Amino acid sequence: MAKGLFLAAALAATALAAPVVEERQSCASQWAQCGGNGFSGPTSCCAGSTCVKQNDWYSQCLPGAQVTTTAVQQPTTTSTSSRPTSAVPTSGGSGPSTTSVQLPTSVVSIPGGASVTASYSGNPFSGVVGWANAYYSSEVHTLAMPSLSPAQASAAAKVAEVPSFQWLDRNVTVDTLFAGTLADIRAANQAGANPPKAGHFVVYDLPDRDCAAAASNGEWAIADGGVAKYKAYIDRIRQYLVAYSDIRTILVIEPDSLANMVTNMNVPKCQGAANTYKELTIYAIKQLNLPHVAMYLDAGHAGWLGWPANIGPAAELFATLYKDAGRPASVRGLATNVANYNAWSLSSPPSYTTPNPNYDEKKFVEAFSPLLRNAGFPAHFITDTGRSGKQPTGQLEWGHWCNAIGTGFGTRPTTNTGSELADAFVWIKPGGECDGTSDTTAARYDHHCGLADALKPAPEAGQWFQAYFVQLLNNANPAF
Ligand SMILES: *[C@@H]1O[C@H](CO)[C@@H](O)[C@H](O)[C@H]1NC(C)=O
Repeated sequence: MAKGLFLAAALAATALAAPVVEERQSCASQWAQCGGNGFSGPTSCCAGSTCVKQNDWYSQCLPGAQVTTTAVQQPTTTSTSSRPTSAVPTSGGSGPSTTSVQLPTSVVSIPGGASVTASYSGNPFSGVVGWANAYYSSEVHTLAMPSLSPAQASAAAKVAEVPSFQWLDRNVTVDTLFAGTLADIRAANQAGANPPKAGHFVVYDLPDRDCAAAASNGEWAIADGGVAKYKAYIDRIRQYLVAYSDIRTILVIEPDSLANMVTNMNVPKCQGAANTYKELTIYAIKQLNLPHVAMYLDAGHAGWLGWPANIGPAAELFATLYKDAGRPASVRGLATNVANYNAWSLSSPPSYTTPNPNYDEKKFVEAFSPLLRNAGFPAHFITDTGRSGKQPTGQLEWGHWCNAIGTGFGTRPTTNTGSELADAFVWIKPGGECDGTSDTTAARYDHHCGLADALKPAPEAGQWFQAYFVQLLNNANPAF
């Protein structure tokens, strides 16, 4: 059981962009798909963009003046087991290079135009549907599909249509991906999307991020003004949320950070970051507490905080933080299994979960909820099912979080969870984006990414990992 005390889960830093075509639109918006085999949406792009063929399966609306220079990178080889291309350099020297697809052009001024506020009560996933963003779609269409068989390629095209979260994992993503996706969702909703589309994002840029692991270390350090930088990042996110108050928006807050405070306080970097993580999480949830926003704090997973020794202290920590923040109305609860592989509900425990009685996310949530409630936090839950389709996985140990073998795409996003406690199953980790590099000489190499049950060779966190995508696709349950 002690192993559960020292599990360091890390997350892939991921990358993002703009959205996909909404069928009711007469033109496709910037970065959206505008053609390709089997595509039935609008084939002309809205003003300012031009439809550019990437391959037989995918044409995309690219900014008008830059059609040749902004094309997405192609893989350097066609083998599905070979290493993906290196990262596109991003702005900012110290930040992780986490994208293989270029960011859209930066927005310089935040538009107004929200005539209504998309307030809600109860389950924030009710009455709206998620948005399948164009960045992930671009990755699938331009990086994954060209090297796949026709049958696999058409399955992959369906993966690109599943709504997933976008990660605001670097400061630059706020003015690019966040801004672009919100604009696209507004356009889709104004064109009559019914039910309306909701925004799904992950706030993920704490200074000294990923304190217990190496793979997803972030761009800012506490020792180098990280607190002020992070507050400005949150303030900018708030500005966009206020400007787009017509879009119901769901935020997952800082994966791994508070869970590390529960189990990894033996790690000096976590010890040093603890007060800052708490201060900044409180800052974020107070600042982003808006009537059309719902927030879920990341709470690890069954194989991390679900161990009997961890679950009580975890409930105390989350409830204390929630109360210290003044019980923000927009904080709906907790997100579990983010970027992880656990099943929602199993009838018998996989060997690597023994002897934890909470061997799936449902058991974890059901054990966690009363403890949280008693401590003053009546939390609801969302669970990432994006990579939990194959059970048991190929993990040799439960804490092996990096690019685990034997995994597949899982249950599609839905509010039909069968549990009062679970608001929705969602896809938070974009499947196919890497968890961390297996290159032992890389600065962000984490030994978990070199283990026998980690798929290798693996590129940097957030980059496209073709072989991993193929694994998820081949093991998808339900199949695509
Ligand atoms: C973060 O991005 C904003 C623009 O959104 C910029 O004004 C600010 O300087 C950036 N922060 C840092 C620390 O680079």
